[in-house]
Amino acid sequence: MCGIVGYVGARSVVDVVIDGLRRLEYRGYDSAGVALVYAPETGEPYLEFDKKAGKLANLEAVLDGQDRSLEAACGIGHTRWATHGVPSDRNAHPHLSADGRISLIHNGIIENFGQLRVELEASGIEFLSDTDTEVAAHLLGREYAVDGDLTEAMTRVCARLEGAFTLLAVAADDPDTVVGARRNSPLVVGLGDGEYFLASDVAAFIAYTTEAIELGQDQIVTINRENGITVRGFDGQPSEGKPFSVDWDIAAAEKGGFETFMAKEIHEQPQAVADTLRGRIDETGQIVLDEVRMSDQDFRDIDKVFIVACGTSYHAGLVTKYAIEHWTRIPCEVELASEFRYRDPVLDRSTLVVVISQSGETMDTLMALRHAKDQKARVLAISNTVGSTIPRESDAVLYTRAGIEVAVASTKAFLTQLAACYLVGLHLAQVRGIKYADEVSAILDELVAAPGKIAKVIENLEPIRQMARDLAAAEDGAARVLFIGRHVGYPVALEGALKLKELAYLHAEGFAAGELKHGPISLIEDGTPVVAIVPSPRGRSLLHDKIISNIQEVKARGAKVIAICEEGDAITASHADFTVETPASPTLLAPLLTTVPLQEFAIELAMALGRDIDQPRNLAKSVTVE
Ligand code: G6P
Repeated sequence: MCGIVGYVGARSVVDVVIDGLRRLEYRGYDSAGVALVYAPETGEPYLEFDKKAGKLANLEAVLDGQDRSLEAACGIGHTRWATHGVPSDRNAHPHLSADGRISLIHNGIIENFGQLRVELEASGIEFLSDTDTEVAAHLLGREYAVDGDLTEAMTRVCARLEGAFTLLAVAADDPDTVVGARRNSPLVVGLGDGEYFLASDVAAFIAYTTEAIELGQDQIVTINRENGITVRGFDGQPSEGKPFSVDWDIAAAEKGGFETFMAKEIHEQPQAVADTLRGRIDETGQIVLDEVRMSDQDFRDIDKVFIVACGTSYHAGLVTKYAIEHWTRIPCEVELASEFRYRDPVLDRSTLVVVISQSGETMDTLMALRHAKDQKARVLAISNTVGSTIPRESDAVLYTRAGIEVAVASTKAFLTQLAACYLVGLHLAQVRGIKYADEVSAILDELVAAPGKIAKVIENLEPIRQMARDLAAAEDGAARVLFIGRHVGYPVALEGALKLKELAYLHAEGFAAGELKHGPISLIEDGTPVVAIVPSPRGRSLLHDKIISNIQEVKARGAKVIAICEEGDAITASHADFTVETPASPTLLAPLLTTVPLQEFAIELAMALGRDIDQPRNLAKSVTVE
């Protein structure tokens, strides 16, 4: 939610900042802005800024028309997902102090901004925007005027702010310095050769360096051309960040010949799942987590599991519940992170809370994690982002290895979350002695075979694309699309509907197929498309029979049924209007395959409707506000 970049170094500052914003634009794209500080050979240093409502391209068009004969010495840039104030030029960041000497950008929400604004207005300051951010710019300007030290001024300002914020600031008369601060919002430092980066996440600077420093909570960082990086706490005491290396490949941040990032990321799924599984089993057959700050005995003591997440990650959690309960016989509940702590769930030392977050920064999930820890529960994180807050604050971590996911609608992150969740379920079963090594390795063999099967599904996507195009072309053909499933097919139905809502802006709903007759079936009209996720007819034939009945129920009321079923499933083929076949798989692992056609269905339908695939309206990829 909001992308932030800062840079000090010898490269073209405006190019580095804009390039960083381009890579962070998935975090928000309501407006964009930059502030650049120039140090001419003669005369005083000075600050210039530009900001524009809408996508980054609008800002770039303004910058392209400017004279670049003098390169800036340092700069900051911002891409916004609006919280306070509509997306507009005046609400776009950066914001300036009253004297115009300080320029500041912000990600998060300053909760006490109302009271601070009243105080500042009473002192004669005139506000130029509706944002909460502007109070921080004015406060910083006032403090900077005291001693001309940007780091000291930022320290004093942070002591007055409440809420969640990452702030970056530059001063007109200090062209070699960018100061950043973070509380409950992400900020990482990139360490180059004589050049330094600040950013919401590493994607902004991996084209230049893979060496990074992770900052802790309530820290202030100063990057200076001469002095490098210094870190201190909000209390003013010297502190340190934690160095780490980034193994994301810059190629992952490019479209690589695909029309959209999402299309590319769908195609990367076999590799991403294979990478996530690779090397996760040691020579004794035990599953290896990345960071474990809890003992095997702690795992054995667990008597209840909660899975907590948002959006697509929540759907991965819903699938995992079936696997964990089946493999470990431990009760498992799945909760939306935004509801978790308000419900006051019953948690104690023997509860394991699994938090799933691609970004590792989702505020709802982070707050749920902290609530769980306050109640003494153990927390295990599944995340795609090394150096992010959620893994850092958890007791154990398993990283997915999806690489950078740029498209706002999540695809490869979801499949890798499933793979990681299956590993966690097997780990629990192993540590608690519920499954023997050979039973675990039989499931692992199936998991290891999954990437090859996902690749087969991807090779065979043209029929579902054609169905999507036909629906888009038919008058009112896709006004409403329903998705139904049973068992693990139910969360897959929810995920299919979410993808379609996110991308195509259509009314799409996912239902447990058995629940349809209790109300939602009244939505069906002549020609309503219903996508049915059909379980394998082998092994779970009862489930299969039941969903065939549900297909008949909707067809009897005029629905047009598209069934996602196992290859060779002649019964489903005889009932559905269209079928898309996926390779045979154990029921619990089938979501790794059945989700993929639904992703393609959504992207193709949305493209046919002319939607923005990678940056759907109103959304952001990393939601760092509650
Ligand atoms: C946002 C994104 C979703 C994502 C959700 C959770 O809403 O638009 O695609 O699933 O956040 O994100 P996380 O990073 O915690 O997995």
